[in-house]
Amino acid sequence: MGGLGVKAAPFTYVAHILAVAAAVLVLVWCIHFRGGLAFESSNKNLIFNLHPVLMLIGFIILGSEAIMAYKVLPWSRDVTKAIHLVLHGIAIVLGIFGIYCAFKNHNESGIANLYSLHSWLGISTISLYTIQWIFGFVTFFVPGAAPNFKRGALPWHVLFGLFVYILALATAQLGFLEKLTFLESSGLEKYGTEAFLVNFTALIVVLFGASVVVAAVAPAQIEETPGYSPLPDN
Ligand code: HEM
Repeated sequence: MGGLGVKAAPFTYVAHILAVAAAVLVLVWCIHFRGGLAFESSNKNLIFNLHPVLMLIGFIILGSEAIMAYKVLPWSRDVTKAIHLVLHGIAIVLGIFGIYCAFKNHNESGIANLYSLHSWLGISTISLYTIQWIFGFVTFFVPGAAPNFKRGALPWHVLFGLFVYILALATAQLGFLEKLTFLESSGLEKYGTEAFLVNFTALIVVLFGASVVVAAVAPAQIEETPGYSPLPDN
C-alpha cells in the first residue's frame, strides 16, 4: 500500500516508545498500586494482577512486535518470516496463560466465569488469533502450498490479521474500563492518581495500536511512480 505517502519506519519508532511506556505503566499499576503479582497466593487479587500484565506485555506488545518485524528487521525474508511466526507463537502462549490466570482468580475466589462482554471478546480474540497463526503457518511456512494460492492468501492474511489485532486492542480497552469500574464502585477515588494511571495506560495502548497499524500498512520504502515529474514551483 504505497499510496499512504509515508514510510513505516517513523511509526515503528513511535510504537516502540509507546510500548515501553505502556509496559512500565501496567507494571507500576499492578505492582505498586495493586500489591504485586503471584501465581499462588492467599491474596487472590495478586493472581488476577498477572492477567493485565501478561495480556498487555506478553500478548499485545509481543504480537505488535511480530506484526512490525517485516518493517524493522534488516534480515532476509525467510529469517524475518520465522521471527514473525515465533513472536506470534510466544504471544499466543503468554495470552493463553494470562487468560488462565483470570480464570484461576475467579475459580479460587468463587466468582462466575465468562459473564462479561470483555471475556466473550477475549475468548473470541485468542481463538481467532490462534486460527490465524495456524493458517499462516500451514500456508506460508510449511513448504508445499502452491505459489498462486500463497499470493491469493496474503492480502487476506494481512486483512484478517489486522482485524484480530484491533479486536485484541478493543478487548484490552474493555478490560481496563471494567477493572477500573469495579475498583471505583468499591471506593477507589474517581479522580485519584490510580484512576488517572489506568486511563492513561489505556490511552497509550490506543496510540500504540494506531502506530502499529499504520506501520503495518505503510511501505518500508516509498516507490517512485514511473513517469512522475514534480510540478514546477510557479
Ligand atoms: C487482549 C487482551 C485481553 C484478553 C484476550 C482478555 C481476556 C479475558 C477473558 C477471556 C476473561 C474471562 C476470565 C473468566 O471468565 O474467568 C477475562 C477477565 C477479565 N479481564 Fe481480561 N483480557 C485481556 C486484557 C485485559 C486487560 C488489559 C485488563 C485490564 C485490567 C483486563 C481485565 C479483566 C477483568 C477485570 C476480568 C474479570 C472480569 C471479567 O471476566 O470480565 N483484561 N479477560
